[in-house]
Amino acid sequence: MEKFVIEGNTRLCGEVEISGAKNAAVAILPATLLIDGITTLENVPNISDVKIICEILCSLGAKVTWTDIHTVVVDSTNLTCTHAPLEMTSKFRASYYLLGALLGRCKDVEVGLPGGCNLGARPIDQHIKGFEALGAEVEYGQGKINAKADELIGNSIYFDVVSVGATINLILASVLAKGTTVLDNVAKEPHIVDVANFLTTVGADIRGAGTDVIKINGVEKLTGNHTYSIVPDQIETGTFMLAALASKGDILIKNCIYEHMDCLSAKILEMGGKIENFGDSIRVYSDSKIHPTNIKTLPYPGFPTDLQPQIGVALSIADGTSIINESIWDSRFQYTNELNKMGAKITSQGKTAIFEGVEKLTGAPLYASDLRAGAALLIAGIIADGKSEIYNIHYIDRGYENIEEKLRKLGAKIERINEE
Ligand code: EPZ
Repeated sequence: MEKFVIEGNTRLCGEVEISGAKNAAVAILPATLLIDGITTLENVPNISDVKIICEILCSLGAKVTWTDIHTVVVDSTNLTCTHAPLEMTSKFRASYYLLGALLGRCKDVEVGLPGGCNLGARPIDQHIKGFEALGAEVEYGQGKINAKADELIGNSIYFDVVSVGATINLILASVLAKGTTVLDNVAKEPHIVDVANFLTTVGADIRGAGTDVIKINGVEKLTGNHTYSIVPDQIETGTFMLAALASKGDILIKNCIYEHMDCLSAKILEMGGKIENFGDSIRVYSDSKIHPTNIKTLPYPGFPTDLQPQIGVALSIADGTSIINESIWDSRFQYTNELNKMGAKITSQGKTAIFEGVEKLTGAPLYASDLRAGAALLIAGIIADGKSEIYNIHYIDRGYENIEEKLRKLGAKIERINEE
């Protein structure tokens, strides 16, 4: 079992390079299954979730080759199987994208019920409602989902909740459907736009990604021999912005998109941090007390739930009381118990947590409960007095590439230790 050991009390200073977006990559790799040919993907994050998807693509008959550490070539010309291995697909959430992609290409699919981070109830009723509206028959139970159709026919689908996964899955299922599909009340995250841009590059006809309504005119086939570069990771960018603020450091964050960070930038300025925009890089620095503020997580362009634990660390040492209202996931305050072990004063009930700022956090043994909670605990360990040990770091490896190396370059004293 691996753990991180951190000697704290560090101001993070220097430069960091952001990787390609995890939540775009885990959708675009399954999307290559729709293509009758070879696709080259660049700026692919080298993280464990991506490696599992590549293995799954191989098990379906695709040929996957890493030509360098961030470039993957997928040849989906001859798919040999539409049933993805259950034990692999149920390991992570994004395996649900195999549903939309294989249904779209082969009109038949079976995957394990999606697993992933433990954030409370994670229904997929909107995905299923959408597939059925296109004419598919969907059955689920005993740990798996099957969907099949004679043909998929475009339809109008209104989503009851704004869902990243359902929006992307219905784009995947409808690009090769007959006729026009209109998706209403969709998610607008940067990775939605990236998936649509990718599919448009390979021949799909998708309009409106990034707005509330997406229209897809089905096409006969998607073609190979294209190269596409995955968008920089909005959440990794935000994690380093908040690490700079919380550690009263000075970080130049390179290879990122400033416009994706508007909501977080506004909060960081309100909390006393300073920001400079250089187009494809952002400098965040701070040398003063953190001001308290209130946060409500919302779908994009609102405050991302995936940055809620990281901003929670900064608020735990703010000069006053702050409130966070988590409106997306039922169970995303588990990290506050770990911060309280470090001397924080946070009370959480249901989807609300109250942060009474304390002067300092103190190092402790800490357990990550999910990916972003893990990122928050890394920041907490770095700013705390003394030594912290972080366990369950496989969660962190799912979504952050080479995180300890990036943090070490910024001055963090962090080691990955393999413990029997
Ligand atoms: C995506 O999850 C991300 N995962 C999550 O990131 C992220 O927290 C989430 O979007 C919200 O931004 C991936 O992209 C792989 P949703 P997803 O469908 O698609 C409800 C991370 O740390 N809902 O947008 O599963 C649902 O319960 C991960 O990188 C339904 O009710 O999220 C939730 O309250 C964790 N029915 C809300 O919608 C459905 O059919 C948003 O969920 C689908 C969702």
